[in-house]
Amino acid sequence: MSKKPLILGIETSCDETAASLITENEQGRPIILSNIISSQVEVHKEFGGVVPELAARSHIEKIDWIVQKAIDESGKKIDEIDAVASTAGPGLIVCLSVGLSFGKAFATSLDKPFIAVNHLEGHALSPKLNSNLNYPYLFLLISGGHSQFLNVQSFGKYKRLGTTIDDALGEAFDKTAKLLGVEFPGGPQIEILAEKGDPNKYDLPKPILYKGGCNLSFAGLKTAVLKVIKNIKTDQERFDLAASFQKTIEEILYKKTKVAFMEFEKINELKEKIFVVAGGVAANKNIRSMLINLCEENKYKSIFPSIELCGDNAAMIAIVGLEKYKLNQFSNLDHPAKPRWSLDEDAIFLKGAGLKF
Ligand code: KG4
Ligand code: ZN
Repeated sequence: MSKKPLILGIETSCDETAASLITENEQGRPIILSNIISSQVEVHKEFGGVVPELAARSHIEKIDWIVQKAIDESGKKIDEIDAVASTAGPGLIVCLSVGLSFGKAFATSLDKPFIAVNHLEGHALSPKLNSNLNYPYLFLLISGGHSQFLNVQSFGKYKRLGTTIDDALGEAFDKTAKLLGVEFPGGPQIEILAEKGDPNKYDLPKPILYKGGCNLSFAGLKTAVLKVIKNIKTDQERFDLAASFQKTIEEILYKKTKVAFMEFEKINELKEKIFVVAGGVAANKNIRSMLINLCEENKYKSIFPSIELCGDNAAMIAIVGLEKYKLNQFSNLDHPAKPRWSLDEDAIFLKGAGLKF
């Protein structure tokens, strides 16, 4: 039996300090040996959003013991690690720098290769950690910083089909939650409030629904919520607004995903139609079940990471590290932290660019 690679993944791009050890079995299926995530929600709560300086400080305080805990829980010894993979972007530069520097130093001290990982590639590959995943697939990333449809041709080959032209979806959830007076991070809280509300009570706008291909826009929705909120008096009305907001998002994603299906089918010869959804918002149960139904209607196989792997974690960074390790794709120790780093290097930067359709 040949020795299977043992990869340490490190993630510090935003407000989660995370480390994970993964390997694979004889059939090449990944195995998560440990997956430690320390959230900073308590640190940022009183500010209603992530404060970069505080986030970086918290990463610095925790990174040593998080990595140590990941090694201890894996049942492996430190000198069995074959490579160290750290997120190098996109994200908050002060936060990225912590995990990146730590990873480089750790790899050097072990005399093992270092691998710089794109955080978005981690989300794109995260379902591989618990499902069989064949290429090509259509990928929808819905997180706090990104909302985009990508054609994933094969490992390392990504073409962006559509993206948000203003706010990311998680950002829209968080901003709406703030308006509704719920604590940061608001996404999961909106989901709870929405369960008690009438989704048909408020008619909210669906920006660029019938134009712009599968590009997305959520900023107008937040402005509409702000207007409604001024006239809200009861808790029931807050629940109704949360439910109406969530239903509007579902309707936007339903329509835009159908457009993305068509674009995906146009550029690929498909034996099997696969739709992968990941990122923090993919944990939302209503959005998940709407997308699963949409896939059934359109004969797509839907693949989601498990709920705990939807949000930021280091196992998804380690799986990219594992794939790169097998291809000998190592990084130099001067690899920079990249606050902006598109998966599709040819894609134009749309956010705030005044895109015309
Ligand atoms: O992927 P993620 O952990 O971090 C980024 O890479 O951005 O995503 C975090 C985002 C936050 O905006 C959070 O509010 C949102 O995902 N989120 C949710 C839910 N759980 C997390 N949004 C809606 N419903 C949820 N259940
Ligand atoms: Zn993320």
